[in-house]
Amino acid sequence: MRIVMLGAPGAGKGTQAKKIAEKYGIPHISTGDIFRANIKEGTALGRKAKEYMDQGLLVPDELTCDLVVDRISQPDAENGYVLDGFPRTIPQAEALTKALSARNEKIDYAIDVTVPDDNIIKRMSGRRACLKCGATYHLVYNPPKKEGICDTCGAELVLRDDDKPETVQKRLNVYHAQTQPLIDYYTKQGVLFSVDGTQDIDKVFADIIAKLG
Ligand code: AP5
Ligand code: MG
Repeated sequence: MRIVMLGAPGAGKGTQAKKIAEKYGIPHISTGDIFRANIKEGTALGRKAKEYMDQGLLVPDELTCDLVVDRISQPDAENGYVLDGFPRTIPQAEALTKALSARNEKIDYAIDVTVPDDNIIKRMSGRRACLKCGATYHLVYNPPKKEGICDTCGAELVLRDDDKPETVQKRLNVYHAQTQPLIDYYTKQGVLFSVDGTQDIDKVFADIIAKLG
């Protein structure tokens, strides 16, 4: 099953993608997590990506597309994957469609997690992220078992550098301008469905599972 998660920053793409990946035994591939891991390791890619991410801007397509096409060609992605945060622009979606059709493959589902902007701004300040395994928590809605520590891998939880309110607003603007057109793109491919992301986490997941089967 090949799945793309769509939705604004903070809509819950990562939260749901992790649960889907676990249920169906497929990898969760988040470009944001890949960039953050590179920033943490101080790689050349990480240094370049950080310049854009800290400003709430998208990392250029040429740094992103090859990385994802390479990742989905790995053996663990043979039976499918959940792409979280990619594609994010029409050129990225076209690059993905092209790479897949060269192998007679296609995206099976694009899931749009919908949450209004004002709700998102409130959510982001309470988010805590694990930069080691990509798990995401919320101080109120989804707290870790032990304060400040990741349930999954035991690493320290942090507030992401791009979660300052002014950067969140900028990311939302970028989302509406550059990523929202993908909803039309995948609707035309006949693979899109929407879920109400304002419900609690388990209810959102139940709605997704009902559609995926
Ligand atoms: P990325 O890491 O993808 O960030 P994003 O799209 O802005 O989305 P987030 O990770 O912030 O939110 P999410 O939807 O995953 O929500 P989450 O589950 O954490 O990208 C970061 C940056 O990297 C970009 O700005 C860009 O610069 C760059 N980048 C990445 N991919 C790129 C690409 N393809 N091209 C170019 N640049 C790229 O949930 C949010 C919070 O809410 C959490 O605290 C969570 O616990 C809580 N929560 C989740 N669901 C619920 C719920 N139902 N009710 C209450 N709380 C909830
Ligand atoms: Mg995320």
